[in-house]
Amino acid sequence: MTPILVLALNPSMDVEWRVKEVLWEEKNHIDSERRWAGGKGINVARWLGWLGGKPKLLLPLGGAAGKELTGCLQREISSANVAIIPIRTATRINIIVTTTAGRQMRFNPSGPRLIRAEWRRLQLATRKLSSPGGLLVLSGSLPPGVPNDAYARLIRQARKTGVGTLLDCDGTPLRSAVAARPFLVKPNEHELTQWWGRAVRSEAQALQAARAMSEATGGWVLVSRGGKRGLLVNRPEGFQQFAAPPRGNPCNRVGAGDALLAAVAREIQLGSTPLQWLHQGLRVGARATQLPAGHLPA
Ligand SMILES: Nc1ncnc2c1ncn2[C@@H]1O[C@H](COP(=O)(O)OP(=O)(O)OP(=O)(O)O)[C@@H](O)[C@H]1O
Ligand SMILES: [Mg+2]
Repeated sequence: MTPILVLALNPSMDVEWRVKEVLWEEKNHIDSERRWAGGKGINVARWLGWLGGKPKLLLPLGGAAGKELTGCLQREISSANVAIIPIRTATRINIIVTTTAGRQMRFNPSGPRLIRAEWRRLQLATRKLSSPGGLLVLSGSLPPGVPNDAYARLIRQARKTGVGTLLDCDGTPLRSAVAARPFLVKPNEHELTQWWGRAVRSEAQALQAARAMSEATGGWVLVSRGGKRGLLVNRPEGFQQFAAPPRGNPCNRVGAGDALLAAVAREIQLGSTPLQWLHQGLRVGARATQLPAGHLPA
């Protein structure tokens, strides 16, 4: 089976507080609290595990939140498949406030500042743990202290050893990483807009932008568009295809893109066709919208 390494550079403990409503200038009573291991890389690894992909997960962890997160991971993923790089500063805690009416406020710290030696150790571990011919998933934001072109460097390093990279990030890290020519990029409409510098709303705009991105990478670009039709493009291969996700009544949108990316990685691992990557990705993404954040189907 093609080995898959997931790098989660900025993991978090996610904490959801349920409240009746949010009151400014008042004490807000918390009705219930839920805590789970969060961050995009961990989400991808969780879904990949559920899909049978047996991923390896590499992540930096520190402080009390790092310890708590280790405990969560031990319950979810076999410890043989988790590699932890200890860091001096505490792992971040993301706060989600959900009201009875279903409205949400999210508070995300930028993450712990990594020192140069910690970032170097992560680079080294990425090289050591990714296998030639395997896949490397690079997903999520970069913590402070990690250079903006971190993903670009890892993509170049991976290509030298025949490792295929799957990329999901935004802003400056996305810009430099695209230039490093990853195997597959998974932007949503917002990320594609940022990269392209023009609005991506219609299917025609999504297609034009995805073609431009695929020309830049020389590889696959999968554009997810929420409940609308997704798009897979590869310019050198002359491939372009739209497909609709299954319809449903979403109760949550957080992590849907991570579930989609996990499904795409799993299909590549299985040797499926690109059309199957797209269809299964959209199907699993839609499945994630039916579950609370951090949950897997039973
Ligand atoms: N309303 C919806 N109905 C059906 N499927 C949906 C809906 N919203 C999202 N999805 C599924 O999830 C996939 C990813 O959604 P989206 O484009 O919102 O990703 P994203 O913005 O990267 O999400 P995130 O980064 O929060 O995980 C979609 O391609 C689709 O398969
Ligand atoms: Mg996303």
